[in-house]
Amino acid sequence: MSGTKPPAPQAPQVTDPLPARLPQPAPLIVASHLNKTFERIAQEHGTDAVRDIDLTIQEGEFVCLVGPSGCGKTTLLRIIAGLERPTSGEVTLRGKAIHGPGADRGMIFQSFALFPWRTVRRNIEFGLEVRRVPRAERHRISGELIDLVGLQGFAAAHPRELSGGMQQRVGLARALANDPAVLLMDEPFGSLDAQTRNLMQTELLKIWERTRKTVVFVTHSVDESVFLADRIVLLTARPASIKSIVEVGIPRPRDRASPEFAAIRQRVLRDLTEEVLRGMAQQDRPGAVE
Ligand SMILES: Nc1ncnc2c1ncn2[C@@H]1O[C@H](COP(=O)(O)OP(=O)(O)OP(=O)(O)O)[C@@H](O)[C@H]1O
Ligand SMILES: [Mg+2]
Repeated sequence: MSGTKPPAPQAPQVTDPLPARLPQPAPLIVASHLNKTFERIAQEHGTDAVRDIDLTIQEGEFVCLVGPSGCGKTTLLRIIAGLERPTSGEVTLRGKAIHGPGADRGMIFQSFALFPWRTVRRNIEFGLEVRRVPRAERHRISGELIDLVGLQGFAAAHPRELSGGMQQRVGLARALANDPAVLLMDEPFGSLDAQTRNLMQTELLKIWERTRKTVVFVTHSVDESVFLADRIVLLTARPASIKSIVEVGIPRPRDRASPEFAAIRQRVLRDLTEEVLRGMAQQDRPGAVE
């Protein structure tokens, strides 16, 4: 390329004299000194499920919670949902303490938890009916969501007529219908076959990119967490406290076969395995509160 003029020197980057005006990531959910002990029911001791969790989740962030079975993941998610009260500490959403369930948090369960007697459309519209949204508006919103989650043609079907993946799409659409600030997802793809699960992960990311919802996603699968998350919060064996936080930082769509993906998977798996082993060693004294 001889003869072409060298590019003009770039103007030096001017730093904003008022950095406070730059868009800052805004904290959406802040958990402070969160503890949860279930009082004893059948066991001899109570169960310490969550211990001293401090966690800030930013607006629009995709966070995965990963930890050994029974460590307290669902309990933590249910506290954020307002379905469970912490024993001490608190969780705030946009600065307001959470004291109960609210339309600003959409929960999606592993078991789908759809109403079997309602059609797809009427399952999706449930929260809107509760909030007395007029019929035409409900219809418009459910129609848009049916398109968004790829269930065109199934509006009048009942859950028993749908595959597991399709039922979970209804669960997602139902949670999105209230336009929540955050989606709380508890192992939503845990019961799907591997193929459908991978497909649903890709679909979820597309929906997340379009809606920019904040997502808190519980999973047992390290692979799933590396594929989905901005940050992976690794929890210890029960009681759940934070063992490590991993920033994934790989641009999406992510290639599961890439060396960067493998490196992060390895790192998370190492921490998780340590905790699984520690949890197994504890099993001689299940639930004991020290
Ligand atoms: N309502 C409850 N009453 C008493 N104990 C409970 C209750 N809910 C959960 N626990 C106990 O708290 C601990 C954590 O349970 P949790 O369901 O949060 O774990 P998890 O990490 O979601 O497990 P999994 O990976 O199997 O879904 C368990 O020992 C469980 O028995
Ligand atoms: Mg659970």
